[in-house]
Amino acid sequence: MIHFNPDTRTFNLILHSSVYAMQVDSKGRLVHLAWGPRPAGENEVLSGRIRPTLSDHASFEFQTRRDELLTFGDTTTHEVTLKASFATLPDPLPDGDAPHLPIRDVRLRYVSHEIVIDAQPGLAPAHGLPTANSDPRETLRITLADPVQPLTVTLCYRLTPAQDIIERWLELANTGDTPIEIEQLFFAALHLPNGTTELTSVSGAWAQEFQTQRERLLIGRRVIEHRSLQTGHAANPFFLLNRPGQTWEELGTVYFGALAYSGSWQLSFEQLHSTDVRVHGGYHPADFALTLAAGGLHKTPALVCGVCDEGWGGASRRLHGFTRERILPMAVAGLQTVPLELHGTGGAVRTPAAADYRPILYNSWEATYFGITEQNQIELAQKAAAIGVELFCLDDGWFGGRRFDVAGLGDWIVSPDVFPNGLEPLISEVNRLGMAFGLWVEPEMVNPDSDLYRAHPEWALHFPGRPRTEARCQLILDFGREEVVEYIFNALDSLLAQYNIAFIKWDMNRNVSEPGSVVGKAIWQAHVAGVYGIMDRLRAKYPHLTIESCSGGGGRIDLGILGRTDQVWTSDNTDALDRLRIQEGFSLAYPARVMTAWVTHEKNHQTGRFHELGTRFDVAMRGALGIGASLNGLDEAELKEYANYIAFYKRIRHIVQGGDLYRLERLEEADASTILYVLPDGSEAVYSVVVHSHKMGQFRRMVPLRGLIPSATYEVLDRYQKVRLTATGYELMVQGIGGDEDGRSGYGRTLHIRSI
Ligand code: DGJ
Repeated sequence: MIHFNPDTRTFNLILHSSVYAMQVDSKGRLVHLAWGPRPAGENEVLSGRIRPTLSDHASFEFQTRRDELLTFGDTTTHEVTLKASFATLPDPLPDGDAPHLPIRDVRLRYVSHEIVIDAQPGLAPAHGLPTANSDPRETLRITLADPVQPLTVTLCYRLTPAQDIIERWLELANTGDTPIEIEQLFFAALHLPNGTTELTSVSGAWAQEFQTQRERLLIGRRVIEHRSLQTGHAANPFFLLNRPGQTWEELGTVYFGALAYSGSWQLSFEQLHSTDVRVHGGYHPADFALTLAAGGLHKTPALVCGVCDEGWGGASRRLHGFTRERILPMAVAGLQTVPLELHGTGGAVRTPAAADYRPILYNSWEATYFGITEQNQIELAQKAAAIGVELFCLDDGWFGGRRFDVAGLGDWIVSPDVFPNGLEPLISEVNRLGMAFGLWVEPEMVNPDSDLYRAHPEWALHFPGRPRTEARCQLILDFGREEVVEYIFNALDSLLAQYNIAFIKWDMNRNVSEPGSVVGKAIWQAHVAGVYGIMDRLRAKYPHLTIESCSGGGGRIDLGILGRTDQVWTSDNTDALDRLRIQEGFSLAYPARVMTAWVTHEKNHQTGRFHELGTRFDVAMRGALGIGASLNGLDEAELKEYANYIAFYKRIRHIVQGGDLYRLERLEEADASTILYVLPDGSEAVYSVVVHSHKMGQFRRMVPLRGLIPSATYEVLDRYQKVRLTATGYELMVQGIGGDEDGRSGYGRTLHIRSI
C-alpha cells in the first residue's frame, strides 16, 4: 500500500512486514525518513514528525543530508547517485555572476507524484510472456526537477508487498533544447540505519563463483563491482547488510538488494563519519557517459531491494520467491509427438517447460567436448532417454569451422563435416526418444578465423588502428551496430525456424577489452540492450523456447538476465564438493529452480578428485538436475543407479524447485551443509545433507528442521521410497532427523519428507 499525507507531505510504502518512509521538506527536498521492519499487524503510518538527526555541524561535515536522491553539486565529498553536466548557463544569470562552463550542479525539488499500476523499469523484458504471478502492482512515481536547469528526475518505487520488495529506478528527462551529459548514474540510493555495517557478498573467478564473504564496513567506501559486458565471475550484484552481532541465519534484521542488470555494474557501500550507511547501485562509473538529448528520456534498470526480520535465510527466501513469481518468464508448454511404444499413450505429450518445473537435462559437453559426431550424440541421447532425461542439449562444436575453440564463432551454420545431414537426424531421434532438444550458442562472439570476421572485421569491438586483444581466440561483436544485432537475431531465428529447438544454452566466454564501438562509450549499455533485445524477440516469436544463461559457467547471473532466461549454468566446476560452496553462495540470492547442476564423471574433469555417485547426485539434486557424464562410458549397473536417482529427483523436484529454502547448517560455519526445501503449505519437504570435510573423532550434530506443521505427522522416505522414520512436525523441528552422526567426508543423504 502507498500512503501519502498531503499535510505533512509524508509518503509511507507499507509492505507485508516492513515500511519505507520519506518526506518532502520545507525546501521541497525529498528526504529519507525510515526503512525497516514494522510491528506485525499494525497498519499505522509514520507521521513525519520524527526527523532523523543529522551531523551537519561543521564546515567539513555538512553533506550528510539524507536526500532520497543524492546529486552532485552541493554534495561532492560523498558518493552521489547522479552527476550531470550542463553546457549552457541559466538564463538570466544573476547580476554580477561570471559565466563559466560546464555547470555540474543538480538540485532537485518536489514537483508532483502519482501512483500507477505496473510501471516498468528500464530494460524490462519485452517478450510478452507472463510471470507465475502477474497480479498488478503499485508504483509510486515522485517527480523532482531542478528549479533552473532543464532536468527532471522521477524516482520510481514498485512494490511487491508479499516479499517486502521495492524495485527502485530513475527516469531522467531533458526538458531543454540542448543535450545534457550524465557523468554518473546509479539506479537508486539507499539510506540504512546507522550501524548496519556487516556486509555479506560473494566474490569469485572462473570455476570458483559465489564464494561467500562477510566483512565489517569501516568508515569510508567499499565497492563490489564488475567492469565488463556481462555480470562477471569476480562478484555478483547482490548484497545482504545487517548490524554485526544482531543477525544470524534465521534471526535479525537484514537489508538486501540486487541489480536487475547484466552489464558493467557497481554496488557502493559508504559509511560516513556520522555512521550513516548509504548504498548506491547501478551503472559502473568507469568509462560511463550518457548524453541526454534535447527532449530525451532515460530510464534506468532496477535496483531490487528489501528488508526482513528473519535473518539471512529470510532475505534469501524473499529474493527466491520474488524471482520465481515475478521475474522468471513462463514459456508456453510446447507439444511434441512421441511414439506409442515409448510412452504407452502415444500421440502428443507436453515438452517440459518453464510452466512446470525445469526438465532433467543432459548436456554432452564433458562427454564429447569438440569430438562430436552425429552417431556419438545419438548414442548418448538414447542412453540419456533410457535413464529418464527430458532435455538433450548439444554443446559447442556443431557449426562452421568450429572443430576446436580457435575458429568458427560467428558462423552459425550447421557444419556438414560433423552433421552431413544437418541436425535433423539427431533432433528427430531425440524427439522420438521423448526428449526435447537444446542447442549451445555463443552469439556475441566472433573468432578471427571465421567467415563472418573475414567479411566484417569492422564488426568486432576495437579502437581503429589499435591492436585487438583476443581471449580464447575470440573477439566481441559490436552490438552498438544495429546490423550486427540483426545479423545475430537472423542467424538464431533461422535455426529456430528450421529445427525443433526447445532450449538454447546462451554462452559468453570472455571479458571485454578495447571497448571501441560505433556508439562510443554508450556501448556499455548498448551491449546489454542488444543481448536482452535478441532474447526477447526470440522468446516472443518462439514462446515455447527456454534459455539457459551461461558465461563460462556463472558469469552472467542476475535479475536482469533471469527476466528472459529459465535457468543458469552455475559454474564450469562440477566437482561436487567445490559445488557445495558455490551453490551455498548462489543460494543467498537465487532460487534452486534456476540453478543448473550436473552430475559428471567419478573423476572430476576440473579438479581430478574422485567422488562417489551418491555425493554427486546429493549435490546436484539441490538444483535443476542435469547430467554431464559420458553415459557411453558407464556399465548397465551404473546406468541403473543413474535412473534410480533421476526417478527419485522427479518425485521431489516440485519441492526443490518450488519450495522455501532453509540453510540449516552452512559450510561457512560447519564442515557440512544441511538444507531443507519446504513447500509453502508445509506438506512436503526435502532434507539434504552433504559433509564436506569430516574430522576424525568429530561427531555430527542433529539439526532441527524448520517450516513444517508442528501438529502434522510426516514420513521420511529414502530414494527407494522406503519409510525411514515417522514423526510429527514438532519432533522434527525440535530434534531433527538423526542418522547422519558419523558422516565421513563426502557423505551425503537426500530424503523426501511428506505429511500423511
Ligand atoms: C563454457 C561453458 O561454461 C561450458 O559448459 C561449455 O559450454 C563451453 N563454454 C563450450 O565452449
